[in-house]
Amino acid sequence: MMKRTDLTTWLEISESAYAKNLAFFKRRLPRHTEFSVVIKSNAYGHGALEIARLAIKCGADSFCVHTLDEALQLRRNGFKQDILIMGPVMRNRLKEVIENDLRLILYNKEILTVLKEITRQSKKAVRVHLKLETGTYRQGIDETDLPDFLRLLKGEPQIRVEGTYTHFANIEDTTNHEYAFRQLTLFQKMANMIRDFGFDDIKCHTACSAAVLLFPETHFDMVRLGISQYGLWPSRETFVSYKMKHSKNGEDILRPILSWKTRVAQLKQVTSNQNIGYGGTYQTTRSSRIAVLPIGYAEGYDRDLSNQGYVLIHGHRAPVRGRICMNLFMVDVTDIPEVHLEEEVTLIGQDGPNYLHVDYLAGLCGTINYEFITRLNWQIPRFVTP
Ligand SMILES: Cc1ncc(COP(=O)(O)O)c(C=O)c1O
Repeated sequence: MMKRTDLTTWLEISESAYAKNLAFFKRRLPRHTEFSVVIKSNAYGHGALEIARLAIKCGADSFCVHTLDEALQLRRNGFKQDILIMGPVMRNRLKEVIENDLRLILYNKEILTVLKEITRQSKKAVRVHLKLETGTYRQGIDETDLPDFLRLLKGEPQIRVEGTYTHFANIEDTTNHEYAFRQLTLFQKMANMIRDFGFDDIKCHTACSAAVLLFPETHFDMVRLGISQYGLWPSRETFVSYKMKHSKNGEDILRPILSWKTRVAQLKQVTSNQNIGYGGTYQTTRSSRIAVLPIGYAEGYDRDLSNQGYVLIHGHRAPVRGRICMNLFMVDVTDIPEVHLEEEVTLIGQDGPNYLHVDYLAGLCGTINYEFITRLNWQIPRFVTP
């Protein structure tokens, strides 16, 4: 069993914050609505198995993942809940979907053809969710192709059309949700078409975090909650829309669950006018005390944070000096004299009175919180804390 005292970097997941986030969403969902949590990409960097365990404990019903292998990892670890694979599965691996009783997304006829062969031969059933194209132009069956698709599905009792869904293109990008509502209207029209074909017992689902937060009319029979279960807002626009809609600040409704820590690996005194790190992009303007931290862009601390980011030590800010290296970077601790070797450093999270938010770091990198957290190296140990 690994101990934090032996490690140079680790992530902490707060169970109490996660439980509060899930309780907040659960309270808002109708009883019949399946509460599915999106834990693809290692649960948005938080750790797939750690989050899967917490999610079930805190009342989630099922999982959404991107790949077959993510689903199999859950099955191997004893998760019996429904798992929807939202990404493509190679035709030569469809049997594994059936053998492991997974839910498969269906949006192209080539997959359907192979699925028919396998289910006819094996006499085993597969559950599919039809992905509908409503304006995101990613995966999805076009409105004009839908009748043909449904005809091909008719008379295939082993291919069970369990659900149908779509994904919004810009619901989190704007405070004007007209486009999302056009998508919603088309989705409902196409879902009715599916029902009219005789597939009347289908679960409809459309809602990602922004939709769950803002529009109850998108909840239907299931929601696919991603980023907000981790206590993060999908965007500033969603935060503002929430505030406009509910006339209250959303600040305290989502609690970030992740903290990222490292330790001081070396301390050194550097005279004035010395260039720090690769390329010498930072020059000291005074005699400085520099702390070397043993993580870098390979661990997910983005190179764009070079000379921009800061970390927290002893509750104080220590600014990044020079470029972020692959596995190391330097911070200035001249004004925090109490810093010592192997001292704990906060890269994301709370330290004393200061909170360092992942949204702030993502902003410095010109990206979104989704990208920053999913890039946290999968090998960093994750610990669930109370
Ligand atoms: C199809 C689908 N549904 C739901 C989600 C969850 O979105 P969010 O993280 O914004 O809740 C995603 C995320 O990428 C997705 O691709």
